[in-house]
Amino acid sequence: MSALFQPFTLKDVTLRNRIAVPPMCQYSATDGLINDWHQVHLAALARGGAGLVIVEATAVAPEGRITPGCAGIWNDHLAQAFAPAVQAIKAAGSVPGIQIAHAGRKASANRPWEGDDHIAEDDARGWQTIAPSAIPFGAHLPKTPEAMTLDDIARVRDDFVAAARRALEVGFEWLELHFAHGYLAQSFFSEHSNQRTDAYGGNAENRGRFLRETFAAVREVWPAHLPLTIRFGVLEFDDRDEQTLIESIDLTKQLKTDGLDMISVSIGFSIPDSKIPWAPGFMGPIAERVRREVGIPVSSAWGFGEPHIAEKAVKDNQLDVVMVGKAHLANPHWAYLAARELGIDKASWTLPAPYAHWLERY
Ligand SMILES: Cc1cc2nc3c(=O)[nH]c(=O)nc-3n(C[C@H](O)[C@H](O)[C@H](O)COP(=O)(O)O)c2cc1C
Repeated sequence: MSALFQPFTLKDVTLRNRIAVPPMCQYSATDGLINDWHQVHLAALARGGAGLVIVEATAVAPEGRITPGCAGIWNDHLAQAFAPAVQAIKAAGSVPGIQIAHAGRKASANRPWEGDDHIAEDDARGWQTIAPSAIPFGAHLPKTPEAMTLDDIARVRDDFVAAARRALEVGFEWLELHFAHGYLAQSFFSEHSNQRTDAYGGNAENRGRFLRETFAAVREVWPAHLPLTIRFGVLEFDDRDEQTLIESIDLTKQLKTDGLDMISVSIGFSIPDSKIPWAPGFMGPIAERVRREVGIPVSSAWGFGEPHIAEKAVKDNQLDVVMVGKAHLANPHWAYLAARELGIDKASWTLPAPYAHWLERY
């Protein structure tokens, strides 16, 4: 009996299996507006059999986009553009999720295939970035952000709330707040990027305040019966990891009290020179610790794209849901083929009848 192909229920939502497509930016929108490419991309991923498809980091405000090509949800017109994708994901038997985000000091960058660096100061395509403190990320992202005022903090929190409302209206059933990867929320939490001396900086409680306030405000508009999750970088892979993990787990416990349903355990990416021990499934033991100490369902990504590794992570109680990213880009039918590789002969576990009926015989 496969663990990976057991259904997973969170609140009123049931995933047909433990496989999720994590958010993956396509850098292909225009002024935040997604297009036919996004519809094809998302429908294909859902059709392939994953239980959950989470739409890419979608900016809650124009200045919160990573690149000029990033998707946005800062008005109703942008939100409605997701309707066909939401319907397609549902029609394919998957659950439509979305990650809402603000890129903070990592915003205003060129697309990865155009350099992945900050847009030059004198280039009109770029914009002023904001962050908890006026500290640049460094390396390829050297722009100095403007330190946010208390009004800025309240405005971005409200942007998250408005984005959540729009995501709900267009039919998303799973919401993930992007609190990871060195973007705005993570940069409040990290001492590397937050040197504020007010209530939003200093000790862990203060550095977590923007995350807690934003989460609580979103929880008020996101229905109690639908999953509200975060992606959170619980460590940086630097020399302070144990302390960071303790603080991260503590914050996650508080968020759980505030109504957090699940956490996607990820990396902080707050510094350019972290020592990440890349290896298949290397985040599994870290996610397991969060799961055990917080007592909350967890998912994680990074190198689970081999079916037996994904299966083992669920079987060993490291993960409740496995995020499979790039392997899905290479092969949208990853879930179906993983089932075959794990010896599951019932294609209907991953695919709807018009495909399953035929493929179970081959
Ligand atoms: C093209 C691409 C875009 C990505 N965009 C996002 C994103 O929007 N939000 C996010 O949290 N992570 C993003 N990531 C990270 C993925 O969600 C995932 O964590 C990463 O690809 C590692 O998983 P994998 O080894 O299965 O690919 C992106 C990764 C890729 C390859």
